[in-house]
Amino acid sequence: MKKYLVIGNPINHSLSPKLHNYWIKEMGLNAIYEKKKIEENEIKFLIDSIRKNQINGINVTVPYKKKIIPFLDKLSSEAEITQSVNTIYCKDKKIIGHNTDIEGFEMAIRHLKFDIVKKKFLILGAGGVVPSIIFTLQKMGALQISISNRTKKKAEDLKKMFKNLNILEWGDLNDFDMIINATSVGLKENDSISLDFSKCGKNKVFYDVIYNPTKTNFLKKGKELGNISENGKMMFIYQALASFDIWHGIKPKIGEEIIKILD
Ligand code: ATR
Repeated sequence: MKKYLVIGNPINHSLSPKLHNYWIKEMGLNAIYEKKKIEENEIKFLIDSIRKNQINGINVTVPYKKKIIPFLDKLSSEAEITQSVNTIYCKDKKIIGHNTDIEGFEMAIRHLKFDIVKKKFLILGAGGVVPSIIFTLQKMGALQISISNRTKKKAEDLKKMFKNLNILEWGDLNDFDMIINATSVGLKENDSISLDFSKCGKNKVFYDVIYNPTKTNFLKKGKELGNISENGKMMFIYQALASFDIWHGIKPKIGEEIIKILD
């Protein structure tokens, strides 16, 4: 039986096992997908388990997407550019790190039927997933990408990777067509970003990378102010689908059922 894992810390909230095991069953594969909370000093052991064929693939989540890189033999170009790995597999005896958050975010935006060209984006936060979002928006032809992070230095560090990034002060909610919450605020049900969104205008898109809970206060506020709101569920599903395809060579169809099992 093939074995797959998602690793992170914390890991309890992860719905990846639910999704992958659903597809494994649907496709009749002899495999299992589990979650494992790990400490940083366990990374090496886990990578060695892939070398020994005891584990066939790993998904990586917060806080290890960057920290895992030194333990790998090779990165895909997407992982290299964003310095972020969420999917690991073994090919020709080499341990390869790839980033499917990019494909996940791109497919989620396409699913929204939001035409990116000539649009302005404002990203809140500068954590692990943000390089993937910036890379995808640039690739899809966004007109302007601004970023505002509570700790400005972290946003400035991102500008070293993405030269055209526009750095704003925290809370400077300038002109945008889509605002993306990529902070961790909202993971707890009562969490609220302490910013005043009331002057942002309406008919914009409020997008939250968070998918659990499904309606963060950020999304509720956006909607209340007359904007479209969308959570990170489709991004999550599409990044998982891309990992599944890498490991099993199959892309199951995304139907209503899969969307429902995550609610
Ligand atoms: P990591 O930084 O380890 O990748 P993350 O969960 O991906 O972790 O990122 C957390 C993001 O949420 C950061 O941008 C963080 O801002 P700081 O860089 O200032 O820490 C942001 N964040 C967390 N709590 C916040 C809060 N109460 N208000 C505003 N931003 C917050």
